Amino acid sequence: MEKIRITLKTLFGAEEVLKDELIELGFPEVTLLNRAVQIEGTWKDVYFLNLHVRCAISVIVEIASFRISDEQDLYKKAKKIDWTQYFTSDKTFAVKGAVFSTLFSHTQYPYFLIKDAIADTFREKEGERPDVNVKKPQVMFDIYIKENQVNLSLNTSGLPLYMRGYRQEAGIAPLNEVLAAILIRMSGWDRKSTFIDPFCGSGTLLIEAAFLAANIPSCIERQHFAFKNFKNFDENLWDEIQSNATRVCKEFDFDIFGSDIDSEMVLMTKRNIRPLPIARAIKLSVNSFEELNADEINSEEEKNSEGKFKGSTPTLISNPPYGERMGDEINEMYQGLGDWFKKDLKGFSCWIISSNLEAFKSVGLNPSRRIKLFNGDLECSFRQYKIFEGSRKEHVMSKLK
Ligand SMILES: C[S@@+](CC[C@H](N)C(=O)[O-])C[C@H]1O[C@@H](n2cnc3c(N)ncnc32)[C@H](O)[C@@H]1O
Repeated sequence: MEKIRITLKTLFGAEEVLKDELIELGFPEVTLLNRAVQIEGTWKDVYFLNLHVRCAISVIVEIASFRISDEQDLYKKAKKIDWTQYFTSDKTFAVKGAVFSTLFSHTQYPYFLIKDAIADTFREKEGERPDVNVKKPQVMFDIYIKENQVNLSLNTSGLPLYMRGYRQEAGIAPLNEVLAAILIRMSGWDRKSTFIDPFCGSGTLLIEAAFLAANIPSCIERQHFAFKNFKNFDENLWDEIQSNATRVCKEFDFDIFGSDIDSEMVLMTKRNIRPLPIARAIKLSVNSFEELNADEINSEEEKNSEGKFKGSTPTLISNPPYGERMGDEINEMYQGLGDWFKKDLKGFSCWIISSNLEAFKSVGLNPSRRIKLFNGDLECSFRQYKIFEGSRKEHVMSKLK
């Protein structure tokens, strides 16, 4: 099969974890870019990655790269491409991407120029042009311009891959599914120890964790993939990739446990997970976080011989309220979190993502890691608190022995 250059786009700060995921998926040669990584592969790999990759927003395949001298040069060079080789005029299309160039007076203008080049090529070659559909296009092109350098690609995913197809309902501030997968991978959770989210909302972290542990692709429920609308779509190859994917969840001998103070949210999570193969792997309850204790999270048979949580890396990952409008109340909540970690989560690796740096101070524990990330447009910090069995001093001493 012909080798192609495949770029996987991701979120700020997630390049390393995406690289790590690709190595695990069998792609050892990965080049790191800014908010993206690149590999060489085949169209079979493109289909495989769209189905399997958890930490990428889209999978794109380069079709042309050139330099331009001015705005009209972009149209002229784009017009040299035979766009009719990629799709037929009965499909809708969109052009999206990123432009960092002083050549353009208006940031949207490059997209119009490419759109015109595509429409004009079709009109001249076939007498009719495809329609543009910005919201739900069947075919999507990606344009990246940095000063004079232009890269044009097919966006083989189309709509972003965080649209997994499993979410029936979302709460007020749901976590983007790709960000949830990134957080889980960053945490180093081993996929066989207790996992909890005590602010589960609509259940994104729990669902992503369960899919990961069961080795079921997160996009197993997704129907839309733009590559299905390309002229070169190979249905047999896609069927083969799909039939090789794991779909059944084996029984876990550890808990994935979620809770939320709001019963509506827990109901929403239940409705979201009910049709999924991982439904039975997730336990849920309605509580405020501090009401949860070890006994509630872990039933007897799930504790190990010392009566502790299952596995070597019991992990909490949570996206609590950021509380921009909650005043002192939010600081009290974060202080309560720190107290609860110390009292009830001994041996845990606790990770919190929040944009509220002031409230983080109230946790009252020293984070062992701080990672800058964005939740949408909000700059956030993702912090790890290692809760040792004894005091931190005892722990350090035992490591030194
Ligand atoms: C930012 S949302 C979490 C969104 C979730 N990650 C998702 O993907 O849908 C914060 C959640 O914390 C819950 N919450 C607020 N105070 C709480 C408390 N004291 N204990 C437990 N949950 C609480 C809210 O009901 C809300 O669902």
